[in-house]
Amino acid sequence: MDRLLVATEAERATVGALLRCCVREVAGPRGQVWQLTDHVSLRVGGVLIRARASGGIALRLGQGEWLRDGAWEPLSPEHLVALISEELGGDGNEEFAGQVAGSQAVMEALALAREEATPPADPWLASEQSLLHGHPFHPAPKARSAAKGDWLSYAPEAYARFPLRLLGVRDDVLVEEGDPGALDRLGPAPDGYTVLPVHPWQYELLDLPLGDGRLIDLGQTTGYATPTSSVRTVYEPDLDKCLKFSLDVRITNCVRKNAWYELSGSVELSRRLAPVFADLAETFPGTRWLPEPGYRSADLGTRLLEGLGVLVRCSPWGRIGAGVTPVLAGALAVRDLNPSDPLAWWRAYVERVALPVLEAYFRHGVVLEAHLQNVLVGLDAQGRPVEAVFRDLEGTKLVGHDLSGVRREVAAALTYDAERGWNRVVYCLFVNHLAEIAATLERRCPLRELWAVAGDVLAAYAETRGRPRRLAELLAGVPLPAKANLTVRWSRAADRNATYVPVANPLARPL
Ligand SMILES: Nc1ncnc2c1ncn2[C@@H]1O[C@H](COP(=O)(O)OP(=O)(O)OP(=O)(O)O)[C@@H](O)[C@H]1O
Ligand SMILES: [Mg+2]
Repeated sequence: MDRLLVATEAERATVGALLRCCVREVAGPRGQVWQLTDHVSLRVGGVLIRARASGGIALRLGQGEWLRDGAWEPLSPEHLVALISEELGGDGNEEFAGQVAGSQAVMEALALAREEATPPADPWLASEQSLLHGHPFHPAPKARSAAKGDWLSYAPEAYARFPLRLLGVRDDVLVEEGDPGALDRLGPAPDGYTVLPVHPWQYELLDLPLGDGRLIDLGQTTGYATPTSSVRTVYEPDLDKCLKFSLDVRITNCVRKNAWYELSGSVELSRRLAPVFADLAETFPGTRWLPEPGYRSADLGTRLLEGLGVLVRCSPWGRIGAGVTPVLAGALAVRDLNPSDPLAWWRAYVERVALPVLEAYFRHGVVLEAHLQNVLVGLDAQGRPVEAVFRDLEGTKLVGHDLSGVRREVAAALTYDAERGWNRVVYCLFVNHLAEIAATLERRCPLRELWAVAGDVLAAYAETRGRPRRLAELLAGVPLPAKANLTVRWSRAADRNATYVPVANPLARPL
C-alpha cells in the first residue's frame, strides 16, 4: 500500500472515531443529530456535518463532510477537533488535539509496519494483533503516551514479539499471592532470589534501584513473548501463560498500572469465581474463563510494587475444547464475516456470549466486563461460535457479596452496587460488543432481523428466570448506557469516573 493511501485511511479512521463520539456525547445530548435513511447529520461547533451511516448504534461511517458556503467538503481531523473544542469550550484542553493527532500517527505507522512484518501463525494471537484502528468510540484509540521508549517495537498491531526482561527479587522483599509459580520456569535465579519478569518497555520506563542487591538484573528470556490486544498483557509460549504487566503508558483512558489492590483482587476473584464459572458452564455449555491464579512483585514502595506487579493468567489454549479456535471478539467485529446462515450464526453467538453474562449477574451477583477486547469466541471447524471465553478480572466486579475477611481497599475495588453493575454489563455486552458484531453481519442480514433473534433468545432466558425487572426493561426498549469516552478524555477524568450517555436500544420492537 502506498503512503498516501495509508495516511488517508488513518485520517478517515480518526475522523470516524471522533464523529461517532460526537454523535453520542457532543451533538446527540444537545439535540443536534439527525439520523436519516442512509446517513447521519449533526451540528458541532455551529457547523453542519454529514456522513454515510450504517450499522445501527455501531455507526459505521463513510467519509465525513462539512457544509461550507452551501457545498459539502471533506472534514479533516484537525477541523473536527477545532469544532469539538468550540462546542465544548470551557477552559479548553490543550492535550486533546495532541492525543488525537498522536493516535492518527500511530495508526499510520502501524499500517506501514504491518506491510513489512508477518502475522503470528497462531490464529488466536493473529486475532489479538489485528485491531489496527482500535476502539471505535474513542477519540484517540491508538494514542500511546509514555515518557520514553520505542512503542512500535512493542505494538501488537505491528506483529511485535520480544524477549522479556528478568529480574531477581531478594526473598526478603518478594511479594506474591496465590500461585505465580509458573514464572519460576522463565529462568534460574541465584540462591535467595526469585525470578520476576518485566515488560521490556516498563524496564525502560521504571527507574530501577539495581544497586543495593534487593533487585538484580538477570538479563533477557531466551524465548519471545507476543503482546495481545491490550498491549500490556503478553502471551509467553514457553509457560503457555499470559502475563499481565504494569505499563506506565496511557492507552485509551488509563495509564496501565496494576494497582496493589487490583493485583490482590484478581487473585481473590480467581478463587471466588471458580464455583461460579463451574455453574455457568453446566447451565451454558461452552462457557470458559481465564483465571489469574497469582501475582508476583517486589516490596520496594508502592511505585515499584505496582510498577513491577505481574499477574499470571491462564492461556485460552489450555482452557478451550478440542478442535475449537479462540478468536478475539474485537477481531471478529472487523472481519468480513460471511457465515452460510447468518441468523443461525448470530443466534449461537448471542447464546454463547450473552446468556452466561446475564446469568452471572442475575444468579451470582458477578459483573463481567464482556466488551470486545475481554471476550474470546471459540469457533468450531466450520467457523461457528461454540464457546465463549471471558477474561480480565480487573473489570470483573461483585454485587451483594460478603467480602468480610478481604482487605478494605481490595473489597472496595471489587464491589459495585446493583445499578452500577447493570450499567456496566449492558454497556459492555450490548453497546460495545453485540452491536458491533451485528453491524458487521449487516452486510449478510438486515439488522432488524438480527436484533429480533437476539430479543427472542433474551426473552426466552428471561422467562426461565422469572423475568428479572432490569432484563424486562431492557427488552421493553429502555435506552442503553454508552460510555462517554470523549468526555472522559476532554475532562481528563479518571476512567472509573466515566459517565454514560443514553443510546437507542436496538432490542426495542413494535407491540
Ligand atoms: N471495543 C473495545 N472496547 C474496549 N477496549 C477496546 C476495544 N477495542 C480495543 N480496545 C482496547 O483494549 C484495551 C481494553 O482495556 P482493558 O482495561 O479491558 O484491558 P487491560 O486490563 O489493559 O488488559 P487485559 O484485557 O489483557 O486484562 C484497551 O487497550 C483498549 O484500547
Ligand atoms: Mg481487557
